[in-house]
Amino acid sequence: MNNYVNDFPLLLQRDEKGHQTIYLDNAATTQKPFSVLNAVSKYYESSNANPHRGAYDLSVQATNILESARKKVRGFIGAKSDNQIVFTKNSTEALNIIAQSYGMTSLKAGDRVVLAVSEHHSNLVPWQVAAKAKGAVISYLYTDKDGAVSQEEIEEKITKQTKIVAVAHISNVTGKINPIEAIIERAHKFGAVVVVDGTQSTPHISVDISALDADFYVFSGHKMLAPMGIGILCGKENLLESMPPFLYGGDMIEYVEEQDSTYAPLPQKFEGGTQNVGGAAGLSAAIDYLNVIGMPTIMEIEKELTTYMLEKLSNIPHLKVIGSLNPEGRIGVVPFVMEGAHPHDIATILNADKIAVRAGHHCAQPFHKYLGVSSTCRASVYLYNTKDDIDRLAESLKEVRRWLGYGTKRIVH
Ligand SMILES: Cc1ncc(COP(=O)(O)O)c(C=O)c1O
Repeated sequence: MNNYVNDFPLLLQRDEKGHQTIYLDNAATTQKPFSVLNAVSKYYESSNANPHRGAYDLSVQATNILESARKKVRGFIGAKSDNQIVFTKNSTEALNIIAQSYGMTSLKAGDRVVLAVSEHHSNLVPWQVAAKAKGAVISYLYTDKDGAVSQEEIEEKITKQTKIVAVAHISNVTGKINPIEAIIERAHKFGAVVVVDGTQSTPHISVDISALDADFYVFSGHKMLAPMGIGILCGKENLLESMPPFLYGGDMIEYVEEQDSTYAPLPQKFEGGTQNVGGAAGLSAAIDYLNVIGMPTIMEIEKELTTYMLEKLSNIPHLKVIGSLNPEGRIGVVPFVMEGAHPHDIATILNADKIAVRAGHHCAQPFHKYLGVSSTCRASVYLYNTKDDIDRLAESLKEVRRWLGYGTKRIVH
């Protein structure tokens, strides 16, 4: 198995008993390799200044770091122009920009906004706000019990009333890859604009947004080895041109008069205020790290881990994996419940063995309600995890019910 873990200082830390953390909450955020940490500290040690604002060397260096990160991102996701790449704080901010700026100016009463029922709240609540303000209606693409959206559902829900379709490329609850090509094709047939939430896809699978023909695409750096506080909004240039800015103030203007202003061209029009250059340096280094390994190799590593994890977890008595047990068409995000054990108790017991998993509704309350579960535990892998980590998880899970006072025999009702 791989030894990428040696590149991640946090994962090498040992506690007073000599134990390392088994980190399996990668869908929430990922750990950072030395190269990313070094890129961030090198920026602050040697090039820190306000970008786009000074004629002096340091400011020029900061500008160059920011702009070369923009180019790196463009190449990584296959966008056509640097003007399409807007730096944001995270996916949530990017989705709010689209809903507030594009949604509020394009939606009319009676229009439909189509979301998947599995959306993360960040791609759901901003649309509720915009739809309510404009009198538009939200309709949902419902999934089967494994979290899959069917072609029939796409055809039934995306119609000529649809103006915006906003869906995750990959679900953060089930790890299921949505049929994004079919959704985009259907939406474009009716002239609707498609917003793809790439938060869980960009870190794990090769993405080419030009080939996909996505109108908007967003992701967060922190879920793909970069620091927190840097994210991306990518949009087709004609759409970004047509939209009003979201944040007004410094850096996003061209001329300011006492009573009126004109705005900077793309992408600065959407980048009001001082940008996170250190975060951009980290994101650039994260993309370099991923590119050296190669996304196809990362996909292979994760597929092997996912197959192994599904097999191991599905063989644990009283444990039920939510969603499909098929390792195809998904990434290594695996939600599960256990008879007689609350997800928070499971996560707490695993924590005693230094295993980090997520418990709760994973910012997808409507989806949990739809699936008929109030909360789940979720284990999610990244390239630095190993089969050994999954063995440790499985061993620890086998002990959960004993900790909660149950016997080992199964009661069959
Ligand atoms: C699918 C999906 N969309 C959006 C988000 C929001 O990301 P952030 O909190 O980085 O803005 C997440 C985070 O878990 C996610 O998994």
